[in-house]
Amino acid sequence: MLKQLQSQVLSNRQISADFFELSMRWDKTAGIALPGQFLTIRVSQDSVPLLRRPFAFAGFDEPEQTASIIYQKRGRGTEILCGKQAGESLDVIGPLGNHFPVNDGQGESVAAAGGIGLGPILFLVNYLRERDVPVTFIFGCRNSSYIPDNTAFKTASPNICTDDGSVGFKGNTISYLEQNIKINDKSVLYGCGPEAMLKGLSGFADSVGAASFVSVEQVMACGVGACMGCVVKTASGYARSCKEGPVFSAKDIVWE
Ligand SMILES: Cc1cc2nc3c(=O)[nH]c(=O)nc-3n(C[C@H](O)[C@H](O)[C@H](O)COP(=O)(O)OP(=O)(O)OC[C@H]3O[C@@H](n4cnc5c(N)ncnc54)[C@H](O)[C@@H]3O)c2cc1C
Ligand code: FES
Repeated sequence: MLKQLQSQVLSNRQISADFFELSMRWDKTAGIALPGQFLTIRVSQDSVPLLRRPFAFAGFDEPEQTASIIYQKRGRGTEILCGKQAGESLDVIGPLGNHFPVNDGQGESVAAAGGIGLGPILFLVNYLRERDVPVTFIFGCRNSSYIPDNTAFKTASPNICTDDGSVGFKGNTISYLEQNIKINDKSVLYGCGPEAMLKGLSGFADSVGAASFVSVEQVMACGVGACMGCVVKTASGYARSCKEGPVFSAKDIVWE
């Protein structure tokens, strides 16, 4: 059953040019969040913006009863979110959607994040490493100003790619994969980021018969499976990204 929470903001800080990390108290009766799942926030009690905004979990600490998101300031909703202070209450629904399947550890795991795809992939990387599943972590963004500070990455130490080469590898995450990462049919690839990146990741995995799972960030309205506003075209028809997703096997998606 869906649980609507009033979660207390614990911190909300800028971690790069326009990325923020918000951590909140989590009521355990709402359930445990797994990597890939998301929550929705009603950022204001006013009628504008009316729709809840979806964000992937970037971290979840069950014993401490805390959850976090990493978000980019984009429009009115995220602008209001940026102004939330520690101690304020947030109207949250979650955990929602499905989650990334965990690699059983038999093959190489590779997790790639592009831009605001960082949150769910960071959560996944930390989750796998806590379970002794080795994983290569790649983060790509436009330039050095988008790279979060080390406290946001904690110990995850990504391989960084920037479009302009100002830090790390010069190029996008797919070029990095093609030039630096050897995979085989036992490998499992994970991705979250722009659609072109997810399509590229899918093609890279397919080239050796590896499995790949992507989290799509379709625009959502209801967020709970009722409106069909978030569908993704799959080999077996349209699927709701808020209900059957947001994580899909990349080979099931019909890429445009
Ligand atoms: C499952 C899922 C997980 C997401 N996780 C993250 C995350 O971890 N971090 C992050 O920064 N963003 C995430 N997003 C995108 C985030 O929801 C939008 O950036 C946010 O809703 C923008 O709200 P806004 O009012 O600031 O912008 P708006 O002014 O509404 O729009 C600005 C841009 O955001 C996009 N957008 C607007 N509303 C939505 C919506 N309801 N769903 C998706 N995209 C929207 C629009 O296409 C537009 O390009 C996720 C989206 C989904 C569906
Ligand atoms: S947002 Fe309404 S069905 Fe997914």
